[in-house]
Amino acid sequence: MLVLGIESSCDETGLALYDSRRGLLAHALHSQIAMHRDYGGVVPELASRDHIRRALPLLEQVLQQAGVARTSIDAIAFTQGPGLAGALLVGASIANALGLALGKPVIGIHHLEGHLLSPLLAQTPPPFPFVALLVSGGHTQLMRVADVGDYQTLGETLDDAAGEAFDKTAKLLGLNYPGGPEVSRLAEFGTPGAVELPRPMLHSGDLDFSFSGLKTAVLTHLSRIGSNACEQAKADLARGFVDAAVDVLVAKSVAALKRTGMKRLVVAGGVGANRQLREALCAAAAKRGFDVYYPDLALCTDNGAMIALAGALRLQRNPAAANTSYAFTVKPRWDLSAINDPGQQPA
Ligand code: KG4
Ligand code: ZN
Repeated sequence: MLVLGIESSCDETGLALYDSRRGLLAHALHSQIAMHRDYGGVVPELASRDHIRRALPLLEQVLQQAGVARTSIDAIAFTQGPGLAGALLVGASIANALGLALGKPVIGIHHLEGHLLSPLLAQTPPPFPFVALLVSGGHTQLMRVADVGDYQTLGETLDDAAGEAFDKTAKLLGLNYPGGPEVSRLAEFGTPGAVELPRPMLHSGDLDFSFSGLKTAVLTHLSRIGSNACEQAKADLARGFVDAAVDVLVAKSVAALKRTGMKRLVVAGGVGANRQLREALCAAAAKRGFDVYYPDLALCTDNGAMIALAGALRLQRNPAAANTSYAFTVKPRWDLSAINDPGQQPA
């Protein structure tokens, strides 16, 4: 089955072709980061307009890359939510228009399901079941993943997402948007332990997170050292922030593995690209005897490949999940545990 995936939930337009026998045939991405940078964050209206401009040229690109004709597409998967309503509508309407024109089924995919299944595209994919740590700009969640369509939320953030905390800290430090990679780079020059920040909810006894207090701690420290602080002081603060955030993410992931009795951790979402988080998880895995799986670095942040894959896996297990009426909605807010699919057949 050849599935076209369309991702347009935020500031990346991603298209991809995934074949259930041959794997990922092609994927192409346009990032709007440069366009939004001047505003310090994503401007929803600009995002939607840009998705309209980019989607069809990217479709041509993936068809060419894969060397297949449009008519060979068997199904179309698109991100139905969560995300920016206007941006989601662009992907949804293009997917359904193509489906109608080609006479092929269409399936709406949960963006986070795409992220948590994305390590299945890697050279060494994780077998089910596993615990997934989803760390993106909008979400921070620990999930128990028994199979495709069988998800249970173990814990989640009560306020800011991990990526949001990185982005806000970057802004406070005068770094560019999106701040995650920039804060991570600056932290490399910081002295570990020079700035000790709180580890929110580290000992809360549950698997929930909270990051807004950490951002406030950064602000308080910054107002103490002054906005003209030297680069080393800023690097030390970045280091303090990253170490605190990483400590909590690692400790809660380890606790989730312990609670579920599992030995496999999948890390997905933009913050999964973070170098310090990867190093700390690698050390914890060696010490405690579990395995960590990541998507390829290029597929950590938003992309169409994860949506095409999720669409193919869902349709394989439950062909009735497809929409052939081409009436569509988007779901800007959508709880991941609401998408468990009781109609699916085991693989
Ligand atoms: O998954 P993603 O591309 O989009 C959402 O679904 O939100 O994640 C984007 C988030 C941003 O907050 C960005 O700052 C963060 O991931 N991010 C990172 C790194 N690369 C991206 N955070 C920390 N370190 C990184 N290397
Ligand atoms: Zn994402």
